[in-house]
Amino acid sequence: MSKMTSLEHQNSTAVSARGWNEIYARGEDSNEEPWSNVVSFVHRFVLKNVNGPLSFLELGCGSGPNLRFAARLGMSATGIDASDVAVEVCETRLERDGLMADVLHCPFGDLPFADQSFDCVVDRASLMFADGDTLNQTVSEVHRVLKPGGHFFHNTIADDVAATLVALDMGEGSSDTEMYAKYPDFRLTSASDLTDRFKAGWVAREVKRVERTVFVPALDVTAEWEAVLQKI
Ligand SMILES: C[S@@+](CC[C@H](N)C(=O)[O-])C[C@H]1O[C@@H](n2cnc3c(N)ncnc32)[C@H](O)[C@@H]1O
Repeated sequence: MSKMTSLEHQNSTAVSARGWNEIYARGEDSNEEPWSNVVSFVHRFVLKNVNGPLSFLELGCGSGPNLRFAARLGMSATGIDASDVAVEVCETRLERDGLMADVLHCPFGDLPFADQSFDCVVDRASLMFADGDTLNQTVSEVHRVLKPGGHFFHNTIADDVAATLVALDMGEGSSDTEMYAKYPDFRLTSASDLTDRFKAGWVAREVKRVERTVFVPALDVTAEWEAVLQKI
């Protein structure tokens, strides 16, 4: 795929952020509870490995269910998101619950944090909305801002038939054309994409392809990667 110019990149990020603003303004995609795969990642890979206060960064924190989970555990929690409505909802809920976290209105790409700032970084279904160059740049930034031995949880939709079904149905049952119009950079991830993405400087602690079929309340088939990478 050809490289995007920086203007094309800004435009596609803005289109995607508008799509997310509409979703959050309608009160959708606004879970109160943290995602179970994030809870499991934090307990299994982060809490047991470090003594003392822990720092947590979420890429694309949305309305903040995972951020509030981290803050409740006493972690120093930071989230970034390109949607200003998401940031607003996230901050309102933190305040409502008497929790502290830093929430930045900031797109993927360069991360505005010092080297070795975080014990863990979480991407729960967010980086998949970035174009390929931005995604790679962000992964290299995640490596920079993680402390040595820190962990990255990368949860992203897998590139196969089941996953495609989900992709086609995202955005209120819209067609794939509407979906890609709303999120122009959305991408599925294959096994070889994953290998390429984490070639140097990482050790894979766990890589799972999780397929799930939900029958009630509505048929929903997903196939996702849940990858835990440790910075070496
Ligand atoms: C599926 S939601 C996931 C939200 C949250 N991680 C969760 O688990 O509830 C994806 C989030 O990524 C954000 N996002 C999409 N593209 C982005 C970009 N280029 N830069 C920063 N955030 C982005 C969206 O605004 C949205 O909040």
